[in-house]
Amino acid sequence: MEIIYLNGEYIPKDEARISPDDRGFLLADGIYEVVRWYGRDFFDMDGHISRLKRSLSEIAIKWDEYPSFPAIARKLLELNDLENKEATIYLQVTRGAAKRSHTYPYPPVSPTVYAFASELVTDEKIAVDGIRVMLKEDIRWSRCDIKSIALLGNTMSFQEAWSNGYGECAFHRDRLITECSHSNIFFIRDGVLLTHPESNFILSGITRNNTIRIAKSNGITVKEEAVNTGELEKVDESFVTNTRGEITPVTSIGDFVIGNGKPGPVTILLQEKFRNETAALKH
Ligand code: PDD
Repeated sequence: MEIIYLNGEYIPKDEARISPDDRGFLLADGIYEVVRWYGRDFFDMDGHISRLKRSLSEIAIKWDEYPSFPAIARKLLELNDLENKEATIYLQVTRGAAKRSHTYPYPPVSPTVYAFASELVTDEKIAVDGIRVMLKEDIRWSRCDIKSIALLGNTMSFQEAWSNGYGECAFHRDRLITECSHSNIFFIRDGVLLTHPESNFILSGITRNNTIRIAKSNGITVKEEAVNTGELEKVDESFVTNTRGEITPVTSIGDFVIGNGKPGPVTILLQEKFRNETAALKH
């Protein structure tokens, strides 16, 4: 029986009850986090806590217990027998239950806090062979920096990509490539690592930020600059990053084959360096 966390309690999932007036349900009024457990420790829990704090503050949800995320996550791993396995922990905080209104409830109501842990089974073939990525106009809102649970633009786009045989959907705004439906995207051109700068148009990915750090410490020049869709033929390599997949090579974007259509040397080097760090977190 799966045990979940809901508003301070650890309970079997089928006993969980949430009000139909919850603003997460009615209005997607909430934020979330996903952190990875490697069997012995989390990857960059501090980064996830800071982003959680920022998301809460950007949408003015008061959940002072946000520093308890690691304790909640550890308890869920223990209760679900996942301590020695690889897993992800999902945590979501919504504004809480109140009569439907376009204003925030006043006085504020207690937020609804839900978390669960799932075993992570990674696909090594994708990490080795890479994925084909669809390219599409960014149809999402202009606050992609908030890790909002309102993900319809992301899911509609990924569904379209997935059902057409792609492994991810990359977005562009006015031809500048921002990020993907659930990952950040990087390019290598003439040995320089390029990715969209932090802004309201991308999520500040924890994997993105650590990849930049690892690249710099290995002597790779990093420029936080967006790549134009018209420049894709000049790109030598590309990869996407997220918590679940770490670094995944990209072999084509839309109609453009990247490099020779195989994961390139800088991508492979960064994958290796990233894995050297996460190997230390394993059981
Ligand atoms: N998604 N950009 C978007 C739009 C994302 O949804 C994600 C992650 C990322 C990468 O962030 P990070 O490296 O911190 O995982 C970038 C998570 C995994 C999800 O929605 O499940």
